[in-house]
Amino acid sequence: MTIIDGKQVSSDLKQELKKSVEACRQQVNAVPGLTVIIVGEDPASQVYVRNKAKSCKEIGMNSTVIELPEETSQEELLAKIKALNNDPEVHGILVQQPLPGHIDEYAVTMAISPSKDVDGFHPENVGQLVLGNLDKCFVSCTPYGILELLSRYSIETKGKHCVVIGRSNIVGKPMANLMFQKLKETNSTVTVCHSATQNMPELTRQADILIAAIGRANLITRDMVKPGAVVIDVGMNRVEDASRKSGYRLTGDVDYEHVSEIASAITPVPGGVGPMTIAMLLKNTLQSFMRAHSIQAS
Ligand SMILES: NC(=O)c1ccc[n+]([C@@H]2O[C@H](COP(=O)([O-])OP(=O)(O)OC[C@H]3O[C@@H](n4cnc5c(N)ncnc54)[C@H](OP(=O)(O)O)[C@@H]3O)[C@@H](O)[C@H]2O)c1
Repeated sequence: MTIIDGKQVSSDLKQELKKSVEACRQQVNAVPGLTVIIVGEDPASQVYVRNKAKSCKEIGMNSTVIELPEETSQEELLAKIKALNNDPEVHGILVQQPLPGHIDEYAVTMAISPSKDVDGFHPENVGQLVLGNLDKCFVSCTPYGILELLSRYSIETKGKHCVVIGRSNIVGKPMANLMFQKLKETNSTVTVCHSATQNMPELTRQADILIAAIGRANLITRDMVKPGAVVIDVGMNRVEDASRKSGYRLTGDVDYEHVSEIASAITPVPGGVGPMTIAMLLKNTLQSFMRAHSIQAS
C-alpha cells in the first residue's frame, strides 16, 4: 500500500517552481505577483492568507496581502479588484472566502479578470475546463493538486472508474470534469455522488479511484471501498480531541485506519491533498505570469 505524500510532492513542486521563477526573472527581469484580499478578521482565513504569502516568498514570487475591514462595502471591494485587474505587476488575484454576509461572492468572482483568476472560479475558466482546454484556463487548485498527485504517483487513470463524492463548485464539480477529460493524466469514466445519491456504497465499491470531498469525518468506511482502490481524501474535518492542546484534530472523510488496510494507495489527512492546494495556486500564478509575458513552458 502506497501512502500518497502530498507534503513531499508539494515541497518538490515548490522547488521546481522556484527555479522557474528565477528563470523568468532572468528572462524578463520581473517575477510573478499574487495579491490576496481578505475582508474581516476570521482567524482561520488569516492563517490561510499568511501561509499563501509565506509560500510566495519562499519561491521568490511577489506577494501582497490587502486587509480590508469587515464593514467594507461590495462597491469598495469591486473597485479594489478592478484596480488590480489593471495592474500589470499583479498576475494573480485571490479573494479569501468566506466573505462577510453583505458581500455577494458571485459578484466578486465575476469581477476578477479571468486572466488573473488563479483560483479558477470564474465561469470563463470553468467553461474552458469543461471544454478540456486546460492550456487556456486556470483549474481550481485542490482538484488540480489531486491531478498532480495522481500523475506523480503514476496512477493509471485511463478507462478506470472514478467515483467523486461531492459536487461543490471548488472541488467536486471541477474534479469530476477533469477526470473524464481525454487527457494523459485522466481519461476515466466518472460517477458523481452527493447527498441525494441512493445506495452510495454500491457505487463507491465500484470505484478504481475514489475521491471523497464531502466534509463529514470518517464517512467512507472500509466496506464502501473496493480492495486495491486508490483513495483520495479531500475532507478536512475538525474532531474533538482532548489529548491535543488545541482541543481538536484534523481528520478526513475517509476512515483512514481501516481503509488503508485494503486500498492500493491513499492520501492521509493531514499531509495528503491539503499541502497541494497552495502549491497549485503558485503554479497557476506562474502560469498567469508566463502567459502575460508570452513565455513558453520549457
Ligand atoms: N485539502 C484542501 O485543500 C481542501 C480544499 C477545499 C475543501 N476541502 C475540504 O473538503 C471537504 C469538502 O469541501 P467542499 O468545499 O467541496 O464542501 P461543500 O461545498 O460543503 O460540498 C460537500 C459536498 O458533499 C456532499 N455531501 C454532503 N454530505 C453527504 C453525504 N452524507 N453523502 C454524500 N454526499 C454528501 C454535498 O452534497 P449536496 O451537493 O447534495 O449538498 C456536497 O456536494 C471539506 O471537508 C473541506 O474542508 C479541503
